Amino acid sequence: TVLIIDFGSQVTQLIARRVRETGIYCEIVPFQSSEEGFHRLKPKAIILSGSPASTLDIGSPRAPQIVFDSGLPVLGICYGQQTICEQLGGTVEAGHHREFGRAFIEIAKECALYDGVWPVGSRHQVWMSHGDRVTAIPDGFEVVATSANAPFACIANEAKKYYAVQFHPEVVHTPDGAKLLANFVQKIAGLKGDWTMAAYREHAVSAIRKQVGDKRVICGLSGGVDSSVAALLIHEAIGDQLTCILVDHGLMRKNEAADVVKMFNEHYDIKLVHVDASDMFINALEGESDPETKRKTIGRLFIDVFEAEAKKIGGADFLAQGTLYPDVIESVSFTGGPSVTIKSHHNVGGLPARMNMQLVEPLRELFKDEVRVLGKELGLPDSFIGRHPFPGPGLAIRCPGGITREKLEILREADAVYLDEIRKAGLYDAIWQAFAVLLPVQTVGVMGDGRTYEFVCALRAVTSVDGMTADFYHYDMEFLGRAATRIINEVRGINRVVYDVTSKPPGTIEWE
Ligand code: XMP
Repeated sequence: TVLIIDFGSQVTQLIARRVRETGIYCEIVPFQSSEEGFHRLKPKAIILSGSPASTLDIGSPRAPQIVFDSGLPVLGICYGQQTICEQLGGTVEAGHHREFGRAFIEIAKECALYDGVWPVGSRHQVWMSHGDRVTAIPDGFEVVATSANAPFACIANEAKKYYAVQFHPEVVHTPDGAKLLANFVQKIAGLKGDWTMAAYREHAVSAIRKQVGDKRVICGLSGGVDSSVAALLIHEAIGDQLTCILVDHGLMRKNEAADVVKMFNEHYDIKLVHVDASDMFINALEGESDPETKRKTIGRLFIDVFEAEAKKIGGADFLAQGTLYPDVIESVSFTGGPSVTIKSHHNVGGLPARMNMQLVEPLRELFKDEVRVLGKELGLPDSFIGRHPFPGPGLAIRCPGGITREKLEILREADAVYLDEIRKAGLYDAIWQAFAVLLPVQTVGVMGDGRTYEFVCALRAVTSVDGMTADFYHYDMEFLGRAATRIINEVRGINRVVYDVTSKPPGTIEWE
C-alpha cells in the first residue's frame, strides 16, 4: 500500500489514480488523520500532495514526524516538496514569479525518479501551479532538475529515497508524469502490482458479508453502472438478503425506468421493487430554480422513499449506495470549516441521524473506470457497462430556472432525440456523456408561415477519463445540424438549438 497524505490539492485524487494504474493499491488520507492512517495502512511508500495553503502561513499543515522516522521512500509534490524542505531544514519563500500551467524543466542530474524516462540534459514539459518556492534545500539533498522559475524543480536525497518535485506529475499536462510515479512506487519502493479487480471482488464480497451478517440490505438502483455494479456485488455476497429499489423520481430519461427493470429482470434473479414517486418529487420541485435547493430536495426525498420502503420490507438495517472514490475524497480544509462545495452530490454526506440504517458502499474505493472493469468481472452486459453516467438529480439539473412538468417533458423528448442521433451516428461510445439541457429562455422563430416563440435547447457532449476534467466533443457540423433539425421538428416547445463548447474546467459537465 502507498499512503497519500492529502494537504487539500484539487488534484490529489489523480495521484491515487496514477498509482492504481500501476496495479498498486493506495489510499488518500487527509493530513489531519495521517498518523492514524499510517498505522492503519502500514504503507511501504508515502506521497505528500499539493495544497492551496502556503508553508509560510502560521499553522499550515505538516507531514507527521513518523513519515521521516519510518525510513520509507517519500515523494513530495508541490506543497509536499515545500513541507519536506521546511521540516528537514531547507527554506521556502514566497515566489516573485508565480508559475501556473505549462513549464519546462531541464534535467541536471540522474535521478531514480526518472530513471529510464528523462536523460540528463533533456528538457521536458511539466505542469506547475505554485506561488511559493524552495530557496534552500535540506542537507543530503541535491538539485536534479531546474526550471526557469523553480531552480529546485526536482530535488532528491537518494540515500534516504526522498524525492520532491515542484511540478505536478499526476496531471496529464505533465506527459511523462505517470512514468515518474510508476518509478517511485515500483522501482524506488519496490512494490509489485497485484491490485486486480478479481482480488478486489473477493475482498469486497467478504467485507460485505462481514458488515451485513444476516441482516437485510436495500440498494437504490438507478440503472447507472455504479448502482448496478454495487447491486451485483452485494447480491453475490448475501443473495436474497438484498432488495433493490428503483425510485422513479420523474426526472429520468425517456423509458429509462422501464428499460432498467426489464434488463434486471431478464438477467438477474435479484429482488427489485419499482417505486413511482414522480408526483412527490415533481410537486416538491415545481417552480424551484436554485441548483443547490434542487439537489438537496431530491437527496432528502430519496432518503424518505428509501426509509418508507425499508419499513415495508422490515428488518432492513443497511442502505447500499454506489458511492465512488471521487465522491468520498473531499478537499481537506484548513479552517476546520467545510471545503469549497461546487455541487452537493446527493449520494454523499451520509444519512440523517434519525435514520436507523447504516450505509453499505462497496465501491467507495474505486474510480469510475475501475467500476466498469469490476462490472465486466461480474458479467454485467457491455451495453450497461458502457452507459453514460447519469446524475442522481437527473433532468432537474438539466432544466435551469424554475422546474415545471411541461419543461421536463419537453427536455425528456429532446434528450431522447439527441441520444438517438448519437447512437445512429455510432458516436455513443466515443463520448463520455451527452445530454440535452432546456434553457429558461424563449426566442423568436419562424415555422411554416408563422411566428414561434419557444424555448432554446442546448446540447452537451464531453470526453473525459474520470469526470474531473473534460473537453467538449468535437462533432462535425453535419451531425449537429441533423440533431438540431430533428429536435425542432419533433419536439413541441423548442425552436432553437445551440451547442455547448465549454470544457471542464472552467465549466462543469452538468449545467447545475
Ligand atoms: P460535474 O457537473 O460536477 O459532474 O462536472 C461530474 C460528473 O458527476 C455527475 N454528477 C452527479 N452524479 N449525483 C451523481 O450521482 C450528482 O448529484 C451528480 N452531479 C453531477 C455528472 O453527470 C458528471 O458525470
